[in-house]
Amino acid sequence: MEFSINALSPEKAKTGCVVLGVFKGAASGAQGFELTAPAKRVDQAAKGALRKALQDLSGKTGSALLLRNLPGVAADRVLLVGLGERGEFAESGFRDAVRAAAQALKELGAKDAAFFLADVKVGSRTLSWNVRQAVLGLRDAFYRFDEMKSQKKPPAPALAHVTLPLGPTGELEQALAESVATAEGAELARTLGNLPPNICTPAYLADEAKKLARQYKLGVEVLERADMEKLGMGALLAVARASHQPPKFIVLRYNGGAKGRKPVVLVGKGITFDTGGISIKPAADMDEMKFDMSGAGSVLGAVRALAGMKAPVNVVGIVPTCENMPGGAATRPGDIVTSMSGQTVEILNTDAEGRLILCDALTYAARFDPAAVVDIATLTGACVVALGHVASGLFANDEKLADELRAAADDAWDRVWQLPLWEDYQEGLRTNFADMANVGGRAGGAITAACFLARFTRKLRWAHLDVAGTAWKSGREKGSTARPVPLLVRFALRHAGRK
Ligand code: BES
Ligand code: MN
Ligand code: ZN
Repeated sequence: MEFSINALSPEKAKTGCVVLGVFKGAASGAQGFELTAPAKRVDQAAKGALRKALQDLSGKTGSALLLRNLPGVAADRVLLVGLGERGEFAESGFRDAVRAAAQALKELGAKDAAFFLADVKVGSRTLSWNVRQAVLGLRDAFYRFDEMKSQKKPPAPALAHVTLPLGPTGELEQALAESVATAEGAELARTLGNLPPNICTPAYLADEAKKLARQYKLGVEVLERADMEKLGMGALLAVARASHQPPKFIVLRYNGGAKGRKPVVLVGKGITFDTGGISIKPAADMDEMKFDMSGAGSVLGAVRALAGMKAPVNVVGIVPTCENMPGGAATRPGDIVTSMSGQTVEILNTDAEGRLILCDALTYAARFDPAAVVDIATLTGACVVALGHVASGLFANDEKLADELRAAADDAWDRVWQLPLWEDYQEGLRTNFADMANVGGRAGGAITAACFLARFTRKLRWAHLDVAGTAWKSGREKGSTARPVPLLVRFALRHAGRK
């Protein structure tokens, strides 16, 4: 799906479908609607035929109505999309409208479209924001994952070209280029998440990183088990022990920023399957633990996006990746291991494995003298209980970094909510037998997990994103969401001084 920015008049555009927004007014009937400017123009050209048709549109956010062969209108079809009431219209409404429009465009199989929703004012948001949301929303809706089906569905209902009918400016063109690259990074993350755990293994992720390195001329290094042993990554190796899949430690570097400028380091949890190990998980829905490498996927996706758009930033992507399996060689509850930092950990629950692979990766991250380190992990079920599927959990040992991430998250509408990282919570990790235990009690589980990581990042400007509730969906819509790729890309760009 390609995009261009081009001022068009809605009644004269020769395109498969003109997409127009319509607000719902307080009154009922056709009078109860408020047409956006381009909808008004189409209505005038069609001598009121658009307004007449409005009786069949509820006007609720995300409602849609398709009109064909409007007189005086060049396009074959006009798609009206309800925006709800103007007074209540905000970011979510815009996103819902984009999604509804995408759904309708998919069903009618249009080859191209002029997307006039791009011009609808959303609070104090800029048009660049609209461009980003439109591109990511449309690409997201048309994403398909049928790699693993023997019978490919009939060719995708290709919406080959979308025109965003705005007056082209340098700023909008840049927003567009950034958005397309972000969509591509998000699609990579999503596909990696969706691939089954017998295919998306640690070795697969390493190959994927090498592929990115070739494609975008990135630096790449893949450490093997022996390298990790030499580095003393005892915590990571304790998780990998029972798996027949060898662990990998991936380091991917993109240097688009000024030479010598400190990099942003992104660290992604890459558990390609989490059985829980000896502290084995219940059978129900265990398949969903293939998504436990979503943090890793988001790091590879974000690096791909930033490299693809040639962002002026230095980034290092670190992906510790392995499987968490039970078996004769598995780590036992009660085992004590020495992490790369030298700190010892009593592993009381082998299902708290994410923090074990991350702590060694965070220790390793220090060698890049980073401006900031952000780890991304499907770390705790407790975070899902706390924040549901809307916000990712944010933790940071530096308030300014937390503010920067929150601002990027709001900007990308890939939102986060901060939870405390107070020393008071460290008490939960106390044990008689080692420097710390790898679990606290049930209470505040997302926080004690973050507190564990905090013990390995004291010398860093560090933040942790718990994406257990946001990186994937279960139920009918089961699949990876690619979150938080949009947030990470926005964060890196803002860090580089981009608006
Ligand atoms: N990968 C899971 C966390 C998770 C749970 C992600 C549900 C997505 C949905 C993680 O490794 C885990 O098992 N965490 C345990 C920690 C506990 C043993 C302290 C959990 O959340 O139950
Ligand atoms: Mn686990
Ligand atoms: Zn896990």
